[in-house]
Formats: sequence, structure tokens, C-alpha cells
Amino acid sequence: MCGIIGVVSKNNQITETVISSLKRLEYRGYDSSGIAIEENGNILVVKDKGSVDHVLGGIDTTKTSGHIGIGHTRWATHGIPSKINAHPHTDCTGRIAVAHNGIIENFLELRKHLEEKGHRLVSQTDTEVIPHLIEELNNEGMTVEHAFKEALRRCKGSYGVVMIAQDSLHEMICARRESPIVIGVGKNETYCASDITAFLPYTNKVIFLRDGEMAILRPDNVLIERIEDSTVVPQRISTITWNPQMAQKSGFPHFMLKEIHEQPYALRNTLRISNNLIEPFARRINDAGKVILTAAGTSNHASIIGKYMFTHIAQLYCQSVISSEFADIGLNTISDKDVVVAVSQSGETADTLDATKRAKEKGAGILSITNVVGSSITRVSDNVICTQAGPEIGVAATKTFIVQVATLSLLSLELAKLRGTLDYSEIQSMKRSLLDTPRQIESVVKTQEATAIRIAEKYYSKPSFLFLGRGISTATAMEGALKLKEISYTHAEGYPAGESKHGPISLVEPGFPVVFIAPPDETYERLIGNIMEMKAREASIISVCGQADEKIEKLSDDFIEIPGNIPAEFSPIPYVVPLQLFAYYTAVKRGYDPDKPRNLAKSVTVK
Ligand code: F6R
Repeated sequence: MCGIIGVVSKNNQITETVISSLKRLEYRGYDSSGIAIEENGNILVVKDKGSVDHVLGGIDTTKTSGHIGIGHTRWATHGIPSKINAHPHTDCTGRIAVAHNGIIENFLELRKHLEEKGHRLVSQTDTEVIPHLIEELNNEGMTVEHAFKEALRRCKGSYGVVMIAQDSLHEMICARRESPIVIGVGKNETYCASDITAFLPYTNKVIFLRDGEMAILRPDNVLIERIEDSTVVPQRISTITWNPQMAQKSGFPHFMLKEIHEQPYALRNTLRISNNLIEPFARRINDAGKVILTAAGTSNHASIIGKYMFTHIAQLYCQSVISSEFADIGLNTISDKDVVVAVSQSGETADTLDATKRAKEKGAGILSITNVVGSSITRVSDNVICTQAGPEIGVAATKTFIVQVATLSLLSLELAKLRGTLDYSEIQSMKRSLLDTPRQIESVVKTQEATAIRIAEKYYSKPSFLFLGRGISTATAMEGALKLKEISYTHAEGYPAGESKHGPISLVEPGFPVVFIAPPDETYERLIGNIMEMKAREASIISVCGQADEKIEKLSDDFIEIPGNIPAEFSPIPYVVPLQLFAYYTAVKRGYDPDKPRNLAKSVTVK
């Protein structure tokens, strides 16, 4: 978690750039914020508990003069959110400032050593050992550059880190191990950040720093070295096709709502992914011994849908394992004949990365589906498919979920072809339905958003919800519940409807809201049975059903219709959309900011 930005420029007013870039990183954490900028040859630190606006909004950026600066937005791991624990952290003299994302695992040991040497560490963070260690090594005679490198060699754990030092204010130095750092190459200005969106308004020329690399950044050049042996690494500049508007709100009150509305566009682009990428990916899956999908959170729900589609459409047995459980469940049985399919929008989720690395050590093939080109997961993978959602800023995943499901749908059709489980005309017909989903989502949003608002206004004060579905819709129900709980802080459980009678039904009393995901598929009649069970206990029934489904509509207190036909296997794509809208409007009605749910971060880079 945490967002980092660094800017070094020939221009001497970078404070505005540092602060606005930092705001674009707030989705990574927002309990504290801070900057360290050059001011008349000194380093000035402004930091505190609170959001970027709260902490830095009062700075008159026209009156600052520096041409180098770093910033940080925090998601606390070691030490409570407070001024003292906010980054950047400095050494004893205030001449070295560091912003860090990750965890220094041996910080207690390093801290003890530094305190014995007379350093005064004031925070409870792991990060603070870094500037003091650099100071110590610098005092021993190393240049700041060398001291930075040596300090990182002594740190165990993970870091995306950037430093500026008063004695060399013409350059900043950054490095990474297991936490992302991307470098932006602008005109007379260079940036480093945890994510491209931070500096996207200024440049689309990027270098993805790799694990174990550090970079010395000046306004007009970048030097990359290996931390371990100081070998110089050739530069690899990529051009990103995202544009800055893609990372703005475009008139919507929140990123989440904008991203829900953008889903047809994201979906169209993803469904255009070349078969030159899909076919070899599917072939690896088909040729494997065992196939395990692994992911976290919303991506895990996409993986469960993937498992269902692989099984149903291609008759390929596979498993889906939550990535934080992978080491305990999936790993023992893995061999070099197997493949692991990792699904992660950010490509940086520590649990998912860890699962892939462990599986790779066992010789398994690693295939990944991610939304971020050049992300860490792409580098441990043999085959990668990059979904085309564009940047997702809202902490709650919406459009990236839809494109993950779309990608898994394309893979299942390709698997069906390879395995001969569907004939040519059946595949073509399903493909046509898939290609129609963007239009279908447009129509859901256009015709059903008002209903979602009305239902949110009716039920927003209910303390608890059940979301139920059968078959593939179980995962849709789980995703609906996750969306509602994470942004509106309402307790919600997603459950297989058939299982609800084995426990959850005891929650139900008159007026208890139960949301049913009810597409007209083979589970339909059995689901009606579950609706009846809940109705018998006077639950309030909210259904997401097919268009003009009189049977379900009669049984429901409220319903949202999904226009058009869709094969059951692809139903999560349109059926999840009203659940996203319902969660969004419930959060707004309850007075919360859906883009920044408490305690959550967009990219979870701790295990
Ligand atoms: C929920 C949400 C999270 C992520 C999870 C995995 O809305 O966004 O549950 O899905 O943290 O993130 P990625 O997909 O980046 O691996």
C-alpha cells in the first residue's frame, strides 16, 4: 500500500506537481500524507495525519521554489496514523528524506543497531531506519548514492522507495523490491511513482523498474543499476496508451460511478484482445496436468466464475484458490506439469504474487490476467493477457472485474474449441452473445440506474443483507455482497442459495433484505424454491432477474430487470452491474466516499 511520488525538474516550482500527483495516488492509502521538497537549498518536510487536501491543501505552491521533491500517501502498517509516523522520514539532521512503500522486516534489529550508534529515531515505523542507515553509511565515508544502495542491501523485506538528499539536490534515487516503482521520462523533468496514473498528465513514456533495481533520476537522464552488484541496466522505455482524461472523473461525482459507466467501453476493448494471445494461453491450460486459478477479493470472484466457465463450456476440471490460502491449500500438490492462472487487476497484490512465485519454484507454468502492463505479476508469468479497462482509480473494483470475466469467457470458448466440447456454430453463437454484452450493459445502466437508486434509498439503513445465487450466480452474489460491505460499511454475505438453509436463514426476520441473482438459467426453478423459503419468513426480496420475468417479479418486493438474452455462462457480466450501482448509491446515501473506503487500499502489497 502507500503511494510514492518523486519529481526532479529543470523547472523550479515542482511542489504543485508533487501534490497533484500525490492526489492521484490516494487510492493506495489515505490515512496520512506528506512531502519533502527543496526550499532554498534545504529540505522542507510538511506531513501529518489525514488526506492530501487536509495536510497539504494550505500550501501556496506559487510561493515555493524547489526543483526536486518527494511525496507519500500512507496506508498504515507499522505505527498508527499520526504526524510522527507520516512519511517522508528523515535522518537525524533532516538532510536525507525518504518515502517508502512496503515493509522492512528486520527494522527492529536495524533500529537497535542505529540507536546504539547514537541515532534518534522518533516514529514507530519500519521506514525510519532507512534514512538513518543512509546517514550512518554516509558518515562512514560513502557517497549518498552508495550509502542508499548499501542501506537497501541491509534491509530485508519489500520496498518501493525514493530518497532526496540535501548534498545532492540535483538528483533523486529510487529503488524497488516487491513493491512497484515506475519511472516517468518527461521533457526536462523525471518522475518516479508507485503507479503511472500519478504522472500520466505529464508524460506517457515510462520505465518499469524491476525487483532489485535502483535508478538515479535527473531532469534529463535516468541511470538504472542492479542493487546487488551495481551492474548498469539498459533502459527500457515503453509508451503507455492511457490518456490523462482516463484517470480523471469526467464530470462524475466519484471515480467508482465513472468506472461503472465506462464498463461497455472497457469490455469492447477487452473483447478485441487478439486471438494470438488467447490461443497460446488456452493451449497452456489445456495441456496442463492440474489447473489452479488464484486471486484475491473481487479478482477471486472472477476466478470462481472462470472455474465455472472452464468446467461448463470446456469440460475442463480446475480449482480456484484464494491467493492468501494458496501456500496452505494449493501448493503441496503442484508439480511442473501444472499451471497456475493468476488473476489480478493491479498485478501487484502481494498474496497473488507470492502464490505465483511459490508455484513457479515448483516448476508450474504461470499464466496471468492483469490490467497493468509491466506490473510485477507479468514478470513472473510465462503468458500474460492484459485486460483493457484503462486505469481504475476507485478502490472498489468494477470495470476491472467485468474485463477479467470477459477474458476468462474468451479463454473458455477457445478451450471449448481445443477440446471439441462445442461445435463451430455453438462457439460462434456464444461469441456473438459475448460481443453483445457491452451493449447490454449500456442498456442496464440506462434503464435500471434509476431503479438501483430507488432501491438504495429504500434499504440504505438496513444493517445486514444476504446475497444469494446458484451456480455461476453464486460468485455474482458474493461480488454484490463484497461491493456493498466494502464501500457502505453494511454487513453483507454472499452465499450459494441452496446452502442458505444450513445457517444463514436464521438471520432472517420480517423485513430482512435478501438479494437474489435470478437469471433464467438451469438453476431457475431451484432458486425460486429459495425465494419462497425466504418469503415464508417475511424477508424483503430484492431480485435481479431477466426482462419481464413475471414469476420472479411477483415474488419480489423490488426487482431490477436485465434486458436481452445472455447465455447462463456469461450472465455475471450484466447481472453484476445493478449490484455495483446499488452498492454505490447505498454508500452515497449513507454519507460515505465510495472511492476511498476506510481501511482499504487499491493495491494490497503486504501479505
Ligand atoms: C474489491 C477489491 C479488492 C481487490 C483485491 C485484489 O473491490 O478491489 O478486493 O479485488 O485486493 O486486487 P487485485 O485484483 O489488484 O489483485
